[in-house]
Amino acid sequence: MTTLTWYGHATLGLETGGQHILIDPFFNGNPSATVSPDKVQADFILVTHGHGDHIGDTVEIAKRTGALVISNHEIAGWLGNQGLKTHGQHLGGGYKHPFGYLKLTLALHGSALPDGSYGGNPAGLLLTTNDGRKLYFAGDTGLFGDMKLIGEEGLDLAVIPIGDNEALRAVKLLTPKIVVPIHFGTWGLIAQDPAAWAARVEKETTTKAVVLKPGGSFEL
Ligand code: NI
Ligand code: MN
Repeated sequence: MTTLTWYGHATLGLETGGQHILIDPFFNGNPSATVSPDKVQADFILVTHGHGDHIGDTVEIAKRTGALVISNHEIAGWLGNQGLKTHGQHLGGGYKHPFGYLKLTLALHGSALPDGSYGGNPAGLLLTTNDGRKLYFAGDTGLFGDMKLIGEEGLDLAVIPIGDNEALRAVKLLTPKIVVPIHFGTWGLIAQDPAAWAARVEKETTTKAVVLKPGGSFEL
């Protein structure tokens, strides 16, 4: 069983095969977060890039829970220096973790860490769960043509940031069974009408769009 929870902004919880995974755990300072970072469970924390709204409360949560933090090599090193248990990967590299096979994919974005340190390349996450489902978390990225290659994996789910029409084009390249839009509505700057976006997705593609409310979950 796999359940996805959206905590607002780009903060996600994934429960699969009894493992608790947090992705880009930004709770403190996230106006749409519905829980505080001292209340969430984590066995693993996945960080797509170094920006503060994605690194978020990784240090605090990992120290409390003992979660293993998985990110690119540079971010893993930066977090390791703060006493966390980490596992570094690189774009294109895959590794079999207890929760499934995780590959880091291309993302077109930046990755500077909150203190200005170099955060390596930003990444997306392609996860094959132990029961064989393919889940793609785009991270923060602009549209890129290799989304078509990622789509050829046969995605059960894609979780993508929605900003403008690029996100609709991304769905057309990824062709997932289900798309979940995130990274909107946190601040006025990234205000979106997710229902209108979902309606366009369902009109123009065969993908089902699932719009969650912050704190909302759905079972795959
Ligand atoms: Ni970012
Ligand atoms: Mn962001």
